[in-house]
Amino acid sequence: MSSAPSLHGGNRIDEAQRLGCRPEQLLDASASLVPFPPSRALQGCLRRALTDNTLRDYPDRSHQRLRDVISNWHGVDPLMVLPGNGAAELFTWAARDAASEGVSGLPSPGFADYGRALRCWQACQQALPLPLSWSGEMPQPFPLLSNSDVLWITNPHNPTGQLWSRASLEPLLARYQLVICDEAFLPLVPDGERQSLVSLVVNHPNLVVIRSLTKLFALAGLRLGYAIGTPERLQRWQQWRDPWPLNGLAIAAGIALMADRPAFERWIARVQGWVAQEGLWMQTQLRCLPGIRSYPSAANFLLIRGDVSLVPLRERMAHRRVLLRDCRSFAELGERWLRIGLQQRSANRRILAAFKALLR
Ligand SMILES: Cc1ncc(COP(=O)(O)O)c(C=O)c1O
Repeated sequence: MSSAPSLHGGNRIDEAQRLGCRPEQLLDASASLVPFPPSRALQGCLRRALTDNTLRDYPDRSHQRLRDVISNWHGVDPLMVLPGNGAAELFTWAARDAASEGVSGLPSPGFADYGRALRCWQACQQALPLPLSWSGEMPQPFPLLSNSDVLWITNPHNPTGQLWSRASLEPLLARYQLVICDEAFLPLVPDGERQSLVSLVVNHPNLVVIRSLTKLFALAGLRLGYAIGTPERLQRWQQWRDPWPLNGLAIAAGIALMADRPAFERWIARVQGWVAQEGLWMQTQLRCLPGIRSYPSAANFLLIRGDVSLVPLRERMAHRRVLLRDCRSFAELGERWLRIGLQQRSANRRILAAFKALLR
């Protein structure tokens, strides 16, 4: 039985193998994805792809239609949009730019993939420690200043769930050579869009915003994200990539999901309603449990901290078929912390029931 901390949540297949069960028996709260079944638009689009030429043909290298749909949604020029094979692919290119600017400051604990991307280009990186206690008031001011040349921001922050105020982020654009703002979770946050930096890109060539459809539509397996930046920067990235970084299914899905504005807005409203309701409910329930403390979050995940190591608890939860995110891979957190991805009510009850049985 391996006790090595995983760098990422969402390893349902590996975990099932390790635990001797079927993947679908596991409730996976280690990854933070919307727990709804695929939208009708997505199902229809994937079905159509089997009968039209989506699978047979090479994907459109210019991603023209997808760029049009995304740019329309955000009210920016299509040349300022670059779709990617998930946000993760785009971090690789952002990191290449970051490497040529100097030292990258990474708020930590933070999402490990920025470090992976920077290491591809032997870029210098500096951890910027975040205070490990914060208020429940959201949005809140971004608490860090550094002497680095580049700043990587995650809004809302992963793993803490803090939502940074746009008012506190905007002045940072005058301070850094390059600011990379990852808004992968922002559309899930109730009223979160007000804190987005997307509208600042047009007047700030040193800003690039990266978004993902992974969390919002639970599409981690399809791989679909996009960057919003200056046309010069994005053209440069486009030249570095392989010829078909996005597969045809992902392109078709992105168009189907974002082109129908009312349907997209309804989906987002449903997701944000779920985050508001279940986030509050889980916080209230977790407060009643002995031996752990839960932390405020604006996002669809939250952190808990134990009086003692929570590694054995995580393992016992796994044997009850509930996967939580081990936080040992976040250097500043370690074994007393776990991250829980919100689920629908019945699954949240299952998580709490397992906690109650184990935390006596
Ligand atoms: C903060 C953050 N950004 C981006 C990603 C990756 O998104 P994608 O699946 O689009 O590569 C993750 C995945 O966990 C994440 O936590």
